[in-house]
Amino acid sequence: MSIDLTKLEGEGLPEESEVRELVRERARGISIARRRLELLFDEGSMEEIGAEVLHRSVDFGLDKKRLPGDGVITACGTVDGRPVYAFSQDKTVLGGSLGEAHARKIARLQDMALKAGAPFIAINDSGGARIQEGVDALGGYGEIFRRNVASSGVIPQISLIAGPCAGGAVYSPALTDFVGMVDGSSYMFLTGPKVIKTVTFEDITVEELGGGRTHAEGTGVSHFLFEDDRVAIAKIRKLLGYLPSNNREKAPHKPCNQSLDSMAPEFHTVVPSDPRKPYDVRKVIDLVVDQESFFEVHTHWAQNVVVGFARINGDVVGIIANQPLVLAGVLDIDASRKAARFIRTCNAFNVPIVSLVDVPGFLPGRDQEHKGVIDHGAKLLYAYCEATVPKLSVILRKAYGGAYIVMSSKHVGGDINLAWPSAEIAVMGAAGAVEVLNRREIDAAEDPLAKTEELKAAYEEKFLNPDIAASRGYLDAVIEPHETRRKLARYLSVLKNKHEELPWRRNGNLPT
Ligand code: HXC
Repeated sequence: MSIDLTKLEGEGLPEESEVRELVRERARGISIARRRLELLFDEGSMEEIGAEVLHRSVDFGLDKKRLPGDGVITACGTVDGRPVYAFSQDKTVLGGSLGEAHARKIARLQDMALKAGAPFIAINDSGGARIQEGVDALGGYGEIFRRNVASSGVIPQISLIAGPCAGGAVYSPALTDFVGMVDGSSYMFLTGPKVIKTVTFEDITVEELGGGRTHAEGTGVSHFLFEDDRVAIAKIRKLLGYLPSNNREKAPHKPCNQSLDSMAPEFHTVVPSDPRKPYDVRKVIDLVVDQESFFEVHTHWAQNVVVGFARINGDVVGIIANQPLVLAGVLDIDASRKAARFIRTCNAFNVPIVSLVDVPGFLPGRDQEHKGVIDHGAKLLYAYCEATVPKLSVILRKAYGGAYIVMSSKHVGGDINLAWPSAEIAVMGAAGAVEVLNRREIDAAEDPLAKTEELKAAYEEKFLNPDIAASRGYLDAVIEPHETRRKLARYLSVLKNKHEELPWRRNGNLPT
C-alpha cells in the first residue's frame, strides 16, 4: 500500500484520527528498518511494541510533524525459538534521530529484555540526539546508557550499525557486548564530518572518519565487518546460538556426532618443529573443535591473537589462541585488549575458556611502552585472573616470560593445563638468554660463534621443553597432539559444574 508520507511529515497537519490511521498503515508497510527486524526474528514471530507512540515536542516546527513510531520500531520475537528483544531505527524519520518518545520506547524494551532474561539487539541507523528536542533527547540517551550498563554481563547485548551513526547512537553500542558494521554503508563517530568542519574546519569523509574498516581493523570498536545487511543479520542470529539467554543459563548445546578421536596426520605437522617458522593457528583450532563450529570475533583487528566461539563435543567454548602467522604471535597492546575483552565476555556468559598458547612474549619497544603496554597487558592478566568459568590451556610450542604466566597458566588460576611435547617453557628464548647470561664467557672464547651455539644448545636442552613445568605440577599432562580434542572434551565435561567465588566487592578495578 502506498502512503502519502508528506501527510505525516509535511506542513499540512491532518486530523488526529487520520494521523493514527496513517501511522498504522505505515507501520504495516515495509520500511528498511522493519525489514531488518523481520530478517532477525524467526519468521512470523515478531510482535511490535509501541507502534503508535508519538512525540510531544513543539519546538522547531515539530508540532506540525507526526513522526511514525517516533523513528524507531521496538519489537520482541524469537531467534531459533528463544525470546529476543530488538529495536531498529528508521533513518527516513528525521535521520533516525533520538527524541524523548523514541528513547522511552527503547528504554522500555531494555527493561523488558532484562526482566525476561533475554538478549537485546540494537539496530542503529541514527544521527544521535534529536537536535530539536534538546535536553529531552540528551536525557533519553542517559536513560538508555544506564540500562545498557545495568544489563551488561546479565543479558547479551548486540549492536548492528546499519547506517551513519553519531553521538549516543555510537556510545550506546560501545556499552554493548558486540558491535557489527556493514562495509561501505555504516559509519560510527561521536561527531559527524559536518560538525567537525564547523568546529575544527577539518575536511574528512565519513569513511575515513568512522567507516567499517576504520573500526574493524584500526580501532577495534567493531567486532564484525559484514558485507551487507542480510549477511549481518544472519551472522547476528548465528552469534546468538553461541550465547545463553542470560548469565544464569548456559549456551545451547548442539549435538555433535563427530568422533572425539582424530588420527588426522595434520595434528603432527600443523605446528612446525622449527620455533621460528610461522603457521596459522586457525588450522589447530579447526582440528580440535567440532567441524565448522569456529565463529571468529574481531577477525580483522589485532590479528596476532585469534579469538572466537566454537563447540567441543557440542558444548560452546571461547577460544583464545596466539597467532604465530602475525608478528610471531607476540602479545602487544591491541592483542591484550582484544583477548581480555573476549575473556570477560565469555566469563560473563558462562562460556568455558580454552587457550591455545604459542607466544614469544610481550612486544618490546618504545612505542608500546609509551602507549601504556603495562596497563593494557595487565588487562589481559586481570581478565584471566578474574574469570571463574572453567579455564583450560594447551601449550603448543613457545610459552615465554610474562606471556607464559598470563596465558591461563596454573599460577593465574588455570583449571587444566596441558602441553604438547613440542612445548618450550622458559623466561625467554635461547638467543636472548645466552646474550644476558653468558656475554663475558662468549667474548673470552676462542671462537665466540661456536661458543654461542654450544651455550644455546645447552639452554635449549635444559629449558625448552615441558619437563620441568610438568614435574612441578604446573602442567597437568603432556599429551600427544592427536589426543587434544578428546582430552579437552573430557576435562570440559568434568568441569561442567565448576563453581568459584571471588571475595565480595563493589567492583574490581580494571587497569586503565
Ligand atoms: C535531528 C537530524 C540529526 C539529529 C540527522 N538529522 N541528524 N535531525 N537531529 N541529530 C536529519 C537531517 O537534518 C536530515 O533531515 C536527515 O536527518 C538526514 O541527515 P543527512 O545529514 O542528510 O544524512 P547523511 O548525509 O547520511 O549524514 C548522516 C549524519 C549527519 C552523518 C549522521 O546527519 C550528521 O552529522 N548528523 C549530526 C550528527 C551529530 O553530531 N549528532 C549529535 C550527536 S550528540 P532532512 O529533513 O534534511 O532529511 C548526541 C548526544 C549524546 O547524540 C552523545 C553522548 C556522547
